[in-house]
Amino acid sequence: MKILGISASCRKWGNTEILIRHVLQGAAEQGAEVQFLRLTDFTISQCKGCLTCLFKDRDCIIRDDFAVILEALRQADGVALGSPIHNLFAAGSVQMLTARLFRQAYHSEFSGKAGVAITIGGMPGWEGWALPQLVSFFLSLGMPLVDQFIGYGQGPGEIFYDIQSCNRAIEAGKLMAGGETNFRGCPGTCPVCHCDLVFTRGDGRPYCTLCDLSGAWVEEGGTKRFVPLSGSRPRWQTMQIRDHFDNLILPSGKRFLGRKEEIQAKLDAFRKGAGGSDSQD
Ligand SMILES: Cc1cc2nc3c(=O)[nH]c(=O)nc-3n(C[C@H](O)[C@H](O)[C@H](O)COP(=O)(O)O)c2cc1C
Repeated sequence: MKILGISASCRKWGNTEILIRHVLQGAAEQGAEVQFLRLTDFTISQCKGCLTCLFKDRDCIIRDDFAVILEALRQADGVALGSPIHNLFAAGSVQMLTARLFRQAYHSEFSGKAGVAITIGGMPGWEGWALPQLVSFFLSLGMPLVDQFIGYGQGPGEIFYDIQSCNRAIEAGKLMAGGETNFRGCPGTCPVCHCDLVFTRGDGRPYCTLCDLSGAWVEEGGTKRFVPLSGSRPRWQTMQIRDHFDNLILPSGKRFLGRKEEIQAKLDAFRKGAGGSDSQD
């Protein structure tokens, strides 16, 4: 059993790194082989949007350190990903990495490997969307989450005072190393992603924006629970992911090629009209 821990923080031995290392400590106590990586030690460029990975069915063509992370993910049986919360979102490197794994998402290459998502904020009330971002990293890759939570600490190292989160991280590592793939965290509003991103749509129906799930509020013992409609499928199901790529993204290539010359003519005319002779040409 090999457990990989990844920190997306620029702070070496900062709060994210400390919590992820707690996960690895727990995993090692269970006899797992562990590996720790700082995303910021690697150059991971932004996805160019060329879609070669899908149209040519090959790993990303950008030559940087992405291959190192990809190989580590391939070797791992379980992955803990941590990120600081910056301006209500996860660190940019998380998004960069997620986009570069488009092909792996299409093929559900990591399907079934366990995941743990941890974000760290300076204070309660400023959590924003960072944890759902990490959750969608795992769910888009078909990786079931064993736990997901937010730790709190402002200055580097202050996470040691969030004893509950440190203990929970150790426990999450033990669970992954023990082969657990079921969710053992606190149930969130949505029973699929366990996040609290259920909004009400124009038709009055509650809807999980992360999972693309319509549902209903069901009253139970004085509290309301979000229950997905029967037949409503989360976007993360293997079948749904496959369908999205096969029937929406891949056919868009042929459509685009058929319009390419027409688009070029439109663009030429637009650039002339928009004064396109600036330095960004
Ligand atoms: C630019 C910046 C933006 C931040 N934005 C938030 C925020 O929106 N919400 C929050 O709870 N904490 C925020 N913080 C605090 C960090 O999340 C906190 O210090 C965390 O412990 C950093 O983790 P690290 O030591 O692993 O980098 C911000 C910190 C910085 C530097």
